[in-house]
Amino acid sequence: ASQKEFTNGFIRLHPYNQVFPREFLRFEKRLKNFEIRDQDIWVASFPKCGTTWTQEMVWNIVHKLDFDTAKKVTLDDRVPYFELSSIVGEAVTDEFEDSLKKVKEITVDPRIIKTHLSFDMLPNQIMEKQAKVIYVTRNPRDTAVSYYNHWKVLEGYKGSFEDFMELFLTDVCGYYTPFVGHVLSYWNQIHHSNICFITYEDMKKDLGGVIRKVSKFLESPVSEEDVSALEKHLSFDSMKKNKAVNKADFVERCNKAFGVDSDPQGFMRKGQTGNWRLHFTPELEEKFIDWEQKWLKDSDFKFVYDL
Ligand code: A3P
Repeated sequence: ASQKEFTNGFIRLHPYNQVFPREFLRFEKRLKNFEIRDQDIWVASFPKCGTTWTQEMVWNIVHKLDFDTAKKVTLDDRVPYFELSSIVGEAVTDEFEDSLKKVKEITVDPRIIKTHLSFDMLPNQIMEKQAKVIYVTRNPRDTAVSYYNHWKVLEGYKGSFEDFMELFLTDVCGYYTPFVGHVLSYWNQIHHSNICFITYEDMKKDLGGVIRKVSKFLESPVSEEDVSALEKHLSFDSMKKNKAVNKADFVERCNKAFGVDSDPQGFMRKGQTGNWRLHFTPELEEKFIDWEQKWLKDSDFKFVYDL
């Protein structure tokens, strides 16, 4: 695979030179002018940082652990992906129906909305309204390994692991890169009381603690009994088996589209912190260290690489 595989048909957008499909330009104004509601709850992340995990946590906190509905209705319908149609671009078909319209037409509040947009690319009204934003991040090494798997399983990427890592480190690995710019766009806003910043590593280390923090932020109290029940529901093994969240159907559709034979359970790959150690050579680790230091030289933000 060459850089072309990612850059052909892609554009770079301000303010971090982010990589998007060219088609994104068609949607940019609509995304920016989208009407936010005070009650909205936005789950934001760079892909592969624990978005699905956080969506399921937030939905259940807000809906008082309604596990029956959570297991019946797919997460993609309960917490729709805001800019999805701008990412699939010209391929907008019935399958990827207009995602903005879908979010706009939700009648019940609060809406819980997933987005991978960086802070600066969110709709203009995000800070004017009382909407709440929960951002989840993860260390870039585990994220990159997980993103490689994602591109193989869901996007038909045929290149090598080494090439993929090279693209990630040159910040042109579609979509939403540069990774650290994305994280800092939210980290630099954490002084706002309507932004809650959590990490995948904290969820691995102390899921109960993160559940309590998020429920306090959302002003949606949970009992200690609820915390234990939700921890069980959100465990990796339980989510991997749960068809409403494990994206097995989606992987199967992608398999058909790309003529490949990926494991339908492959979206829920390992669910670990530090898994990058099994994939990185010492040389690659050095490259990541240099790249991370370059990006973080003016920031107090620190990633957690092992638990
Ligand atoms: P791995 O590929 O490292 O296993 P996203 O939802 O942002 O795309 O993130 C997907 C990553 O989160 C995958 O990481 C997936 O396995 C992991 N994940 C999903 N649910 C999880 C859970 N309940 N516990 C731990 N990791 C989880």
